[in-house]
Amino acid sequence: MATETTTTFDSNEIFVVFVLGGPGSGKGTQCAYIKRDYDFVHLSAGDLLREEQHRPGSEYGELINNYIREGEIVPMEVTILLLEKAMKESRDTENKTRFLIDGFPRKMDQAIKFESTVVESQFTLYFEASEETLRKRLLKRGESSGRIDDNSESIKKRFKTFEETSYPVIEDFMARGKVRKIDAEQSIEEVFEEVKKIFETAF
Ligand code: ADP
Ligand code: C5P
Ligand code: MG
Repeated sequence: MATETTTTFDSNEIFVVFVLGGPGSGKGTQCAYIKRDYDFVHLSAGDLLREEQHRPGSEYGELINNYIREGEIVPMEVTILLLEKAMKESRDTENKTRFLIDGFPRKMDQAIKFESTVVESQFTLYFEASEETLRKRLLKRGESSGRIDDNSESIKKRFKTFEETSYPVIEDFMARGKVRKIDAEQSIEEVFEEVKKIFETAF
């Protein structure tokens, strides 16, 4: 008799790595390299939310816009729905089984709900850098990103949310021995060298 699973995906078949770190720590940048070298699908929760925000007819557009501008965490139902849909699509149309979930979970409730209903993660990559470094990078990115939250006012709020709401998620994964911490103060190439060491031993 097959064992009963309560999650959408079986963690023996679907390999999920959470990619966390403060805003501007280089999650998206490093995910692009990992995707290129290790055949992962890169799903950024922030990108999926922005896409949904701009989708004509979306019932969540206004809500997402407000949360993002204020640097707050969008109610988990919306984000989990978007992630699960994107994962199913990649699996069903391209047979993809490895996923980098970038910028998620950002709140304890998201972590618990995702791992109990969608799939359990294998480990979490955590990119650590000082607020000073992050602020510099975000303000620079803001010169061309067109993002409504890459300005000093929103950045301040995002740092507060990271410290109060998102860091506890990382601490919880640390306590369970599931975090691979990386010094993200270094150059993009140096950071990727560290990332490679982790992925080369993971497979
Ligand atoms: P995140 O997805 O974590 O918010 P990004 O990958 O978008 O971060 O990077 C934020 C900004 O910092 C981008 O403009 C990116 O080019 C730049 N950046 C990323 N990693 C580094 C690094 N190691 N050193 C300097 N700049 C970086
Ligand atoms: O990861 P990124 O910086 O692109 O996220 C931008 C914003 O999207 C966050 O500041 C937050 O408002 C929202 N977000 C969220 N929940 C997530 C990821 C992003 O609410 N898991
Ligand atoms: Mg990003």
